[in-house]
Parts: sequence; C-alpha cells; structure tokens
Amino acid sequence: MNVMVVGSGGREHALVWKLSQSRKVSKIFAVPGNAGTAQLAVNVALDPTNAIEIADFAQAEDVQLTVVGPELPLGLGIVDEFKRRNLNVFGPTQKAAYIETSKAFAKEFMAKHNIPTADFSIFNDIREAADHIKSATFPLVVKTDGLAGGKGVFICRNMEDGMAAIQSIMQEKKFGRAGEQVIIEEFLPGREMSFMVISDGKRVIPLVTAMDYKKAGEGDTGPNTGGMGAISPAPDLDHDLLDSILRTIIMPTIEGLRFEGREFRGVLYAGLMITKTGPVVLEFNVRFGDPETQAVLLRLKSDLLDLLTASAEGSLFDVHIDWEEEVSACVVLTSRGYPGGYEKDKSISGLERAKSMGVEIFHAGTRLDGESIYSAGGRVLNVCARAASLKDAMKKIYDAIPFITYDNISFRSDIGRKQS
Ligand code: AMP
Ligand code: GLY
Repeated sequence: MNVMVVGSGGREHALVWKLSQSRKVSKIFAVPGNAGTAQLAVNVALDPTNAIEIADFAQAEDVQLTVVGPELPLGLGIVDEFKRRNLNVFGPTQKAAYIETSKAFAKEFMAKHNIPTADFSIFNDIREAADHIKSATFPLVVKTDGLAGGKGVFICRNMEDGMAAIQSIMQEKKFGRAGEQVIIEEFLPGREMSFMVISDGKRVIPLVTAMDYKKAGEGDTGPNTGGMGAISPAPDLDHDLLDSILRTIIMPTIEGLRFEGREFRGVLYAGLMITKTGPVVLEFNVRFGDPETQAVLLRLKSDLLDLLTASAEGSLFDVHIDWEEEVSACVVLTSRGYPGGYEKDKSISGLERAKSMGVEIFHAGTRLDGESIYSAGGRVLNVCARAASLKDAMKKIYDAIPFITYDNISFRSDIGRKQS
C-alpha cells in the first residue's frame, strides 16, 4: 500500500526508513522530505502546514496511511482535515495536540488531573511577571506558552536572567504570539528522560526509553537545542520507575484527555525529570522526539506500519511489538553556530564511506541538487548505530563521522557519556 510521511527532519527519514522495511508498503511519499528520504520515497514539494493540499494529494495517490512528523501541522489541525475526508492518519487531532501547542494548557491540565509537574504560575502581563521574578527564589525556569521550536525555555540562575527572559519574550516579542503568555516554574534538579508511548485513545504501547542531549555544547553547556544526540535505552531505568511513569503520568494523561473530549491517538512524548520524589513532567509533545526516534526505531524489530495503523484505527489491543536488546545511539551533525545563526548550502560528501562503517545515517537538513547533497538546516545529519554496549555503539558512530565532510560541520564528541 501507499503511505506518506509529513516532515523533513531526521525523525521523518527514520520513519520512512522503518516503514520501507514493511512488506505491506509499496510506495512512500515524503512531504517535503530531504535528500535522505529521496532514496526511499518520492519527495513531494508541498508545504507541511497546508493540510488541504496534502489531503488532496493523499486522495489522488491513494495513500492509505499518512504519518505526521512535526508538531506544527498537528497543532494546525492536519489530522482533523484527514478525518473529515475519512483518510487514515497517524497523529492527534488539533484538540488533542493542544497539550503541546499550549504549555499553559498543559500545566493546568496536569494540575487538574494530579499529574506531577513543576510548580508554576502563568502570566500574560509583563509587569506581573516581573514582580513575580523580583520575589522569586532561583534558579527558576521561564517558558513561552506556544510552540518555539525547543528554543522558548530559559533556565534562569538569577534575577537578571529572569528579567532578560521575560523582556525578550514579552517585550521584544522574539517568539511572536507564542510568547503572549509565559509560564514561570520551579527548577527541578534530576536526570532527564524521554518517554514515548503510542496510543489509540484508550490503550498505550510504550516505546523503549531514550535520552537526548539538549545542550549545544560539550559537557552539557551552552544553549538548548532541538537535540544534539540520543541514546536508547535511557540510563538507570528500572522496572519500578517505568511502572510509576505509566501509572502516575501516562495513563492519567490519556484518560484525562479522553475525559475532556480530546481523545489522543498518535505518539505521546513525555519529557520527564526523574527527581528524588519520582518522575515529573517537564513537557508533553504530541509527536515523535527528534533525535530520540532515530535511536528508538533502530531497536524496533516489528513492523512499524502495523503499530501506527492500529493507533490510527483505535485497535492497539491486537498489536505486539518486539525490540532488539542491543542499545542504540545517534549523534547529530550540525552547521556550526546552530542553534544561533549558521550558514547552509554546503556540499556534503563521504556519506557512503561512512555508512560502510556499519552506521545508519538519517538526513535532517539536507537537500538534493542533481546528484549532489547540500546542507539545508542547522541539524544536518544523524549518524546512528546499534551495538551490544553503548561504548561499542559510540565507537561505531565516532569512527564513521570523520568520513563525512562539509564546511562548518560541528557535533558533540561526548554523546553517550553520562552527564551530571
Ligand atoms: P521543555 O521544552 O519544557 O522540555 O524544556 C526544555 C529543557 O529545559 C528541558 O529538556 C530541560 O532540560 C530544561 N527544563 C525545562 N523545565 C525545567 C524545569 N522545571 N527544571 C529543570 N529543567 C527544566
Ligand atoms: N529532542 C527533543 C524533542 O524532540 O522535543
């Protein structure tokens, strides 16, 4: 059958790659895709936020399942458009996606349903936010309410940091309407973990855990990014913790959303802090994590199509999935300067040679021009591997990376090492 993946990052290349292994899949479209998806799918130059054109295309090409990668089209209601036309689609409706679209909604939802999260206050008036900061204890965290591509979170060590954060969000309006409201919340020390489940609105199937490396610089320094690398499983995970995440966070969220008329089908991603008192939610996303998904899908033995179809159709009860015991990892190659300003359009070479070292390479910001591949974004490539130990996986990856060349290549050389 024909399937379609919406998006153009490393996550989408990994989804296309895994779907291409299904015997039931005959043709894949990637909207708009990148130079990597072009090897396995037909790239279609449509705007991922234009739900009408994408749904028209799905109907014309007899696409039987559409998988939506990024949050923006979900937040804009692409799934609702597909459902109106009775087209099969993997992902939450606009109402269910609201748990990511609005952090203020997510916080209030968690408070209402007793789901553990950092203590918080919500402001839409800059003076009130400033007054709050003047009397607060530090560190604290300032967040934009709306989507900000992972860049709308400020960890503030003192009052100056806090004032600067609300200035840039609420006065300079650096995030536009996403910053009309801010959340100021308690800083939680602990260890971070990403936990993703596939849900059909009632049931959930957890994916294996992962941990991403959010900071731009070595040793977890510098600004937050979308993710500079990932490993799976997350370290130090035990059965009790897994059970507590499902019992205190995931199930109450899925049930609460259903209760509020926001039935959640798709992948629910909980960004968690494992604190001394247990797991606490930092954020919810309504889509696969990037680059966590690249690491997670390397470990999936089962047919991804069956899993995603069952979520879309509400029939997760008859799906069982198997995982490789081996661990996996992913290192993101960026354009120097990311997440700030960077140059793109650099010619990329050495990918085949690197791949022959036993890694899987998922493209993120790349584009094809004739036979040549150029960088087209801040996160350019994901070099991923699976092995018996994390050490072996990291060795495979870091041995392969030197074969890849482009001007202004940059990456963290400490992915896989435990951070404090
Ligand atoms: P978020 O987009 O809400 O997940 O925040 C991005 C990153 O900021 C997280 O991955 C954490 O590293 C950090 N962060 C967010 N909220 C908190 C918090 N309350 N305490 C400590 N760190 C946080
Ligand atoms: N890697 C973090 C995210 O996908 O939100």
